[in-house]
Amino acid sequence: MVYEETYEVRQGEFATAGEASASIKRILKKLGVDSTIVRMVAVASYEAELNLIIHSYGGTLTLEVKSGELRLISKDIGPGIADLSLAMKEGYSTAPESVRTMGFGAGMGLPNIKRQCHEFSITSTPGVGTEIIAKYKL
Ligand SMILES: Nc1ncnc2c1ncn2[C@@H]1O[C@H](COP(=O)(O)OP(=O)(O)OP(=O)(O)O)[C@@H](O)[C@H]1O
Ligand SMILES: [Mg+2]
Repeated sequence: MVYEETYEVRQGEFATAGEASASIKRILKKLGVDSTIVRMVAVASYEAELNLIIHSYGGTLTLEVKSGELRLISKDIGPGIADLSLAMKEGYSTAPESVRTMGFGAGMGLPNIKRQCHEFSITSTPGVGTEIIAKYKL
């Protein structure tokens, strides 16, 4: 492993929203990762970080870089997603009004993460949690 870092992301912590993904972007630039990949990971990690803050009870964002591959992993402790195909639809959002007034809740985060990586997987168990793995070929 060339690099590994895990960030704790807490529910409702809007004051520090975007800090984990900004740090990930900084690290990737420093590691000399291709700028197109850096941009893709930056978008995906920001969306995943905001989803942890808005929709989860809290979780972690992990960056793993090794030769030839980069992984971004979002893992949380619930509440989980009952209907994944619905959650993946552009425009679908359960964000409350209070969050929408802050500019979130367009229902574009998950489709964006899928678009901004080379290989996407999401698994979720209601009552347990959600895990997203976004992979990039380097
Ligand atoms: N980590 C998560 N835990 C539980 N539910 C989630 C999680 N991430 C997403 N969801 C559910 O999937 C829906 C779609 O997520 P998505 O990121 O696409 O949109 P959004 O967060 O509602 O809006 P946007 O990302 O555009 O601000 C959310 O509204 C929420 O219901
Ligand atoms: Mg979102």
